[in-house]
Amino acid sequence: MSGKMRTAVVGLGVIGHVHLGVLAEMEANVVALCDIDVEKAAAVGAEYGFSAPVWGDFEKMLAEAQPDVVHICTPHYLHAPMVIAALRRGVHVLCEKPLCIHPEEIDAILAAEAASTATLGVCLQNRYNPANLFIKEYLKSHKPVAAHGSVTWHRDAAYYNKAAWRGHWDTEGGGVMINQALHTLDLLLWFLGDPTSVSAETANLTLGGVIEVEDTATATFHGSSAPFTFFATNSAAVSLPVEIGFRMENGDDLTLLPLCVLCNDEVLFSAPRPCVRGKVCYGAGHDPLIRDFYRCISEGKHFPIDGHEGARVIRLILAMYESDQHEIEIK
Ligand SMILES: NC(=O)c1ccc[n+]([C@@H]2O[C@H](COP(=O)([O-])OP(=O)(O)OC[C@H]3O[C@@H](n4cnc5c(N)ncnc54)[C@H](O)[C@@H]3O)[C@@H](O)[C@H]2O)c1
Repeated sequence: MSGKMRTAVVGLGVIGHVHLGVLAEMEANVVALCDIDVEKAAAVGAEYGFSAPVWGDFEKMLAEAQPDVVHICTPHYLHAPMVIAALRRGVHVLCEKPLCIHPEEIDAILAAEAASTATLGVCLQNRYNPANLFIKEYLKSHKPVAAHGSVTWHRDAAYYNKAAWRGHWDTEGGGVMINQALHTLDLLLWFLGDPTSVSAETANLTLGGVIEVEDTATATFHGSSAPFTFFATNSAAVSLPVEIGFRMENGDDLTLLPLCVLCNDEVLFSAPRPCVRGKVCYGAGHDPLIRDFYRCISEGKHFPIDGHEGARVIRLILAMYESDQHEIEIK
């Protein structure tokens, strides 16, 4: 499936496992692993049957291993510099979300993508989930007049204390919005188009003293094909399924859940429970997304979730942080 492409993976933490699991099933040619914890990288590689050499330094790995493709699975603040370094060398990049965390990084990444011969893909894997694909198709012939997305999850101090980069503005770039809720906001964008303005409020309700970023956010967006609201929290007692609701022009209410779509409480679509790698909340989208990324490269086709697509949700989230309860334009 990945042909003879030479693959490297940087960041062998939680999500690095998921990428290696898919690459192992694809019988990919993994030629380099990279992590500042080189022993961990070697051990994680071995777990998936890869005995590729390990580098502790990303730029050195790019120069010496000369991969064709690199999967970027590192903390948020490293995404933009790593994406740009790889694209400048003509190395195809599959970057975990978020594409970046600072406004100026968006332009720098898009410029590097435009100047490169290589492909940039962003891991917004929920776009590959069957229920989400069903809604995307359904909305082509059914008009929504409003929507609401809700992410009600539980993340506690133990979660944040597992990795020093989490919970800080300079390394995570935000809290629940730029990390846990990004996928749901991306789906709303994908379904309804880009809003032009937002009014948002963020708060830290239960993780004060643990994280400096927000654990809860609410927002109202205008200017897309239908206005939508959003609520996300990491401070719920338990994690509940993500939900997006649509009021349709004909008065119907659609409810999109991870594996099904309801129309006025009747099942309109339902997908079989997939085999999920990693946490259930990641869904099963990494498998089809990664395979599609390699397929597009090997067939010379454009990968649909490129830098432009990955940047859309970043612009929204950065505007939410800037809004501070005032309606502002999304640039
Ligand atoms: N798509 C999804 O649904 C999904 C799910 C989980 C995580 N993620 C994303 O994956 C990324 C990683 O998250 P995680 O939970 O795996 O984090 P993690 O902390 O478990 O793993 C990050 C890894 O990067 C390594 N690392 C740190 N600095 C490095 C450097 N300079 N060079 C090389 N390696 C370095 C760390 O040692 C660690 O092994 C984040 O962007 C996160 O948002 C995406």
